[in-house]
Amino acid sequence: MRLVFVGPQGAGKGTQAKLVCAKWGIPQVSTGDMLRAAKTEGRLSQDLVAEMAKGALVPDEVVIGLIRTRFEASDCKPGFLLDGFPRTQPQAEALDGLLQHLGQKLAAVLALEVARELLIERAVLRRTDKRTGQIYHLKYKPPPPEAQPWLEHRPDDREDVVKHRIDTYERMTAELLPYYEKRGILKRVDGVGNVEEVTGRVFSALDGVVS
Ligand code: AP5
Repeated sequence: MRLVFVGPQGAGKGTQAKLVCAKWGIPQVSTGDMLRAAKTEGRLSQDLVAEMAKGALVPDEVVIGLIRTRFEASDCKPGFLLDGFPRTQPQAEALDGLLQHLGQKLAAVLALEVARELLIERAVLRRTDKRTGQIYHLKYKPPPPEAQPWLEHRPDDREDVVKHRIDTYERMTAELLPYYEKRGILKRVDGVGNVEEVTGRVFSALDGVVS
């Protein structure tokens, strides 16, 4: 099964992606996580680190290169969930080219939809355990005391940066969602509600596409 998760910052893509991947036994391929790992390991240029902290997208060729390399790994052979890629039409077209080359196609593109005010609250109060990648929320999913020393507040989760990221997302999806809608593989999922409620909707949306 090959899936794409699209959604604005804080929509819950990462949270839901982990649950979908656990249920269907496929890897979560998150360009955001890959870029942050590259930054931690000193493999990302200072210019790109600064751009990400400001909430800007990194250049298409950088993320397309990351995906191309990631697809070569054996765990991607049976399927994958792309979390945060593609975000632009050139990325979507590059993905089509990569999949065509591999003789594969997307089963579905899920768009998680959440109102702007809620997105800001979700992102600003997010904390991530840097050892495990577990995502917490100070209000909706408080971290346990033992995770406290390892909690990370992303530099791009400041309120002003989050607003900028949402604006960027709204501009880019103006072309991205119709691209998949025309093919009949876009599934819009209401991302408002608690995590379990949203998971129920995501699984239902996938029922029709997953055998
Ligand atoms: P990336 O890491 O992909 O960030 P994002 O798309 O901005 O998404 P987020 O991680 O902010 O949110 P999410 O939807 O995963 O929400 P989460 O599940 O954590 O990208 C970061 C940066 O990398 C980009 O800005 C860009 O610079 C670069 N980049 C990445 N991909 C790129 C690409 N393809 N092209 C160019 N540049 C790229 O949930 C958020 C919070 O809400 C959490 O605290 C969670 O606990 C909580 N929460 C989740 N669901 C619920 C719920 N139902 N109820 C209550 N709380 C909830």
